[in-house]
Amino acid sequence: MFVIKKDISLKPYNTFGIDVAASYYARANTVEKILYAINFASYNKLPIFVLGGGSNILFTRDFEGVIINPAIQGVQLQSDDEQYYVFRVGAGVVWDKFVELAANNNLGGVENLSHIPGLVGASPIQNIGAYGVEVKDTIVKVEAVEVSSRKLVEFNASECHFGYRDSIFKQELKEKVIITHVWFRLSRNPSFELSYGNLAEEVAKLGEVSVQNVRKAVINIRKSKLPDPAELGNAGSFFKNPIVDADKYTMLKVRHADLNGFQVSESFYKIPAGWLIEKAGWKGKQMGECGVHHKQALILVNYGGATGTDILDLASSIQRSVWEQFGIELEREVNVF
Ligand code: EPU
Repeated sequence: MFVIKKDISLKPYNTFGIDVAASYYARANTVEKILYAINFASYNKLPIFVLGGGSNILFTRDFEGVIINPAIQGVQLQSDDEQYYVFRVGAGVVWDKFVELAANNNLGGVENLSHIPGLVGASPIQNIGAYGVEVKDTIVKVEAVEVSSRKLVEFNASECHFGYRDSIFKQELKEKVIITHVWFRLSRNPSFELSYGNLAEEVAKLGEVSVQNVRKAVINIRKSKLPDPAELGNAGSFFKNPIVDADKYTMLKVRHADLNGFQVSESFYKIPAGWLIEKAGWKGKQMGECGVHHKQALILVNYGGATGTDILDLASSIQRSVWEQFGIELEREVNVF
């Protein structure tokens, strides 16, 4: 039986722990149930909202509509050759469970993305990334349901228009498709990306360079810096790292020797938003029930009773002060509803 829950609080379904209400909530663990939920919404003339693990969303209001949680499970091996294994993974699989499975089988490609909260189906939407790796480099294709036609559609990697924390699913296709499965290609002869920050050092502490050890090192680093949403509400990085031109970067670097930008193309540099926020004096600041994390200024936290608007107001104050001090606009990374 497929139960669509009525009048529920979304508090347990978003890692910020914001208490807003939704008229209906459908946990759909098959494509058929997703289609049923879409039909239910259109029959009742209600909008739909797709919610995965709720780890990259800030709710600011109640939702009079149908929340669809794509909960399709399963990791299926589709093909293998000397170099690669290709897996088709259900959108509802917990992302880190998939990474764990890859690491346990010594398959490379996603180990740097260990311990990122959320579900597999969300991974292509914002092209999750960490420690010098982006998920786009392992994605073969994405399967989805097109909401308007109810048809099953597929996108190969180039059709996903991946960018830094960006894809077609966050742009033109926002709210138009519901991802059901993602295909990943993992390597049997992994080449490792250890150049980011102190990752190489952390791996060396554990011994040989292996998929398992890179995973362990990433988990250690993340645990030491990032708050656990189960203990302190948050949605990871709240802003994207801004990209500025070389002139602007040089100007900043001359003034601030401790700035560590990262060259992204011939004349553009990515600047750590966490550094800008810290320099602007926000690190560790508390404003009522919300605040800026004391170890990583890019993360906004809910101490318990914050509303989405409280957090959004804090974010706006941070954006304003970074703009006033550095002339740089911070763009939100977290989705706001
Ligand atoms: N920094 C500061 N102060 C801070 C935080 C950072 O000066 O309070 C400086 C650090 O000293 C470091 C630099 O900023 O030199 C980069 O910091 P970090 O390695 O913590 O990474 P980040 O750029 O702040 C990005 C991703 C994270 C990802 C890490 C590691 C974005 C928006 N965020 O953060 O992703 O885990 O790199 O790869 O690109 C997420 O998307 O939710 C997320 C957590």
